Amino acid sequence: MSDVLKQRDFLKEIDFSSDELQHLIDLAGEVKAAKRAGSEQRHLSGRSIALIFEKSSTRTRCAFEVAAHDQGAHVTYLDPSSSQIGHKESAADTARVLSRMFDAIEFRGKAQTTVEELAEFSDVPVYNGLTDEWHPTQMLADFLTMEEHAASHTTRPSYCFLGDGRFNMGRSLLVMGAIMGSDVRICAPQTLWPDDEVQAIAREHADRSGATITLTEDLDEGLRGVEFVHTDVWVSMGEPKEVWASRVQELMPYQVNAAALAKTGNDDAKFMHCLPAFHDESTTVGREVAELTGVTGGLEVTDEVFASPANIAFDQAENRLHTIKALMVATLTR
Ligand code: CP
Ligand code: NVA
Repeated sequence: MSDVLKQRDFLKEIDFSSDELQHLIDLAGEVKAAKRAGSEQRHLSGRSIALIFEKSSTRTRCAFEVAAHDQGAHVTYLDPSSSQIGHKESAADTARVLSRMFDAIEFRGKAQTTVEELAEFSDVPVYNGLTDEWHPTQMLADFLTMEEHAASHTTRPSYCFLGDGRFNMGRSLLVMGAIMGSDVRICAPQTLWPDDEVQAIAREHADRSGATITLTEDLDEGLRGVEFVHTDVWVSMGEPKEVWASRVQELMPYQVNAAALAKTGNDDAKFMHCLPAFHDESTTVGREVAELTGVTGGLEVTDEVFASPANIAFDQAENRLHTIKALMVATLTR
């Protein structure tokens, strides 16, 4: 299996089989255990990774940097304002240049077409660190985290995503669950469901994997019996701040609060969030939205749920490190 992943790009979930994705998740569990035991082997000594961030990041950037360092590799961080990318040089030419110097390229930005173009013109693996359409490295962390917390330690978790399903997180959770054979539910107003094309992709994979796909506006149907409740910010990076007022109105019924968790009927239901989260008014944006809408105590998740033992979002955040490390080890080890 590990040979199949050598030198592969990681651009979106549907480029991989469930076995390949599961292999990366299993490998992440192994490198996590090795780091904790102090027995980590360095597989990437002398390697160099370029990290292109067109959008901001805490977890993804840090995960790539620390994972590379742990494995003996070096990173170079590039942002569009301090490089030629975008304004003076195309993605294609950037890929041609960087693949002469680096062993892999990570890209976070708006368009999936940009990361696909980088991959087309690069001679080294390209990793998608988030686009508007997909967040595949996040999916590896989410599935490792669900596996670790599932009552039955199943690799086929049941989960519901509440919130804006049209963006990267809603789309990726739908399609990843479909590939992996999960019971996956998207619960949101129909206008905020993943688009028809993504739904069709998910259903096609579900036919093969045995996954159950549910898209619903109904909270009871979405939440009944699931083990994990996911959400994401209601306004994603790159969206204008003018949409906050209407988005809050549309999505407030789908807030993850104590009542939503109770609807699972499962006392051990866990709360997950890729982070960052608006669970109080301690951030600039959180305060601005509270002033604009009058909503306090959390937006997509209440502070009560966020502070509760149900919250496993910080385990999820730590697992970004181990899963991104597994991805680099699997694709770059000689
Ligand atoms: N979840 C996630 O991608 O976080 P960052 O935006 O901080 O990288
Ligand atoms: N949907 C969010 C995810 C952040 C990790 C965004 O794109 O801003």
